Amino acid sequence: MINHFLILVLAATAAAQDFLQRPYLQLGNQPGGLSVMWHARDADADWQVEYKSDANGWTKATVAPPRRIEVRGFQPHRVYEATLAQLARGERFDYRVKLGGREVFNATGMAPRGPGQPHTFAVIGDTGNNSGGQRRLAVEIGKASPEYLVHVGDVVYMSGLVAQYYKNHFPVYNCEPGTTAPCASLLRSTATMAVPGNHDIPETVRLRAQPGALAYFYYWSLPRNGPLTDRGSLNLPRLTGSEQAINAFYDRAPNYPQTAMYSFDWGDAHWLMLDSNAYVDWSDPRLVDWVKRDLAGARGARWRFVALHHAPFSTGRTHASDQWMRQLAPVFETGGVDVVFSGHVHNYQRTKPLKFKPAAEGRVKKAPGEFAIDDHFDGSAKTKPNGLVYIVTGAGGMSLKEGSKDDKPSMWEPYTAKFHGSTHSFTLVDSTPDRITIRQLDERGRTIDRAVIRR
Ligand SMILES: [Fe+2]
Repeated sequence: MINHFLILVLAATAAAQDFLQRPYLQLGNQPGGLSVMWHARDADADWQVEYKSDANGWTKATVAPPRRIEVRGFQPHRVYEATLAQLARGERFDYRVKLGGREVFNATGMAPRGPGQPHTFAVIGDTGNNSGGQRRLAVEIGKASPEYLVHVGDVVYMSGLVAQYYKNHFPVYNCEPGTTAPCASLLRSTATMAVPGNHDIPETVRLRAQPGALAYFYYWSLPRNGPLTDRGSLNLPRLTGSEQAINAFYDRAPNYPQTAMYSFDWGDAHWLMLDSNAYVDWSDPRLVDWVKRDLAGARGARWRFVALHHAPFSTGRTHASDQWMRQLAPVFETGGVDVVFSGHVHNYQRTKPLKFKPAAEGRVKKAPGEFAIDDHFDGSAKTKPNGLVYIVTGAGGMSLKEGSKDDKPSMWEPYTAKFHGSTHSFTLVDSTPDRITIRQLDERGRTIDRAVIRR
């Protein structure tokens, strides 16, 4: 018995030394596949990844050459990525990571679903400040067991730095089972996708003052099918620092800037993932054309969702002038989008189904315009919407805003159907081919909102 216990302790210690960050699942750049990423010491090592479903034996994954992350203020480390290419749609699989031939980690995962396969996903935003609320909410997300998790931005406060991922993100969502502090062992089994918020990518990135900035591009592996292929594009933040510092960043982040915008499919859902930061000019016809083309190409999907950080429509004074993404409402309407998920405002809000015609063109902070609001839809008895539902799910951990407006509809915008800002919360959606059920669950496990949308 004692020997058995000792072996377990030694194995755990060895694993802790092997990883700086234990494996976590990413969508990667392989349609229908997934990636396993992990971080390890800055030394050459013989890493291997194998995976298997019930039907097959172990398959060796391709491990890409690691990227070395050396930034001031954090220990140099290497980021590894293995591609699990041969997964059948919706298939559960086991995977194991070996170091020098010795297994040092194992977990299970699920491949992206195919059309017609019902599934459950979660959406969170504005999370990473290591608050009690963020941690309690992480536990609730873990209990809900979503197949994947979409993050609508502001992943880590205050500046999207490498060290902040290690303090405010990974320990909360990628902890070891049995950790004392509230946290979830979620990332090893749940693919997680994100869009960048203003705290992930500032308008001006000072690589000299903050060499660990833009960690979004180090630690996420996302599809490279978006419109931002050119590092000289105008729709990017301003990078300052020496030419050497900027080139070193480019070397560490080969996916920059492409993974700031992309799209993917899971089950019957098509997801359009947009960067809504202020440096992006959403009146640029090249970007708008890409959005149109992407949505037109997804006509086969039963559901079309958009994720972006800055809420196009929101109640309250918080970030009230940051509603520039409403300019895209007509494009989303024509493209058949069902729900737009956003954050930035640190509470939960759901609109009634709505259509919007902006009265001003170009880059406008909060365009006035003409609203067509579906007051008939109630999400329970009347479930066929006439218009898009806009959800703000920015209550993921950062300090909450305007909870005094909960249950006071007279203080809401005419298009707001539900407002909740007094507890942290996340969105859980059950998706089937003919209906989605949206639930908002809070840090105490309570359901604070529920709405069904039917085709
Ligand atoms: Fe934000």
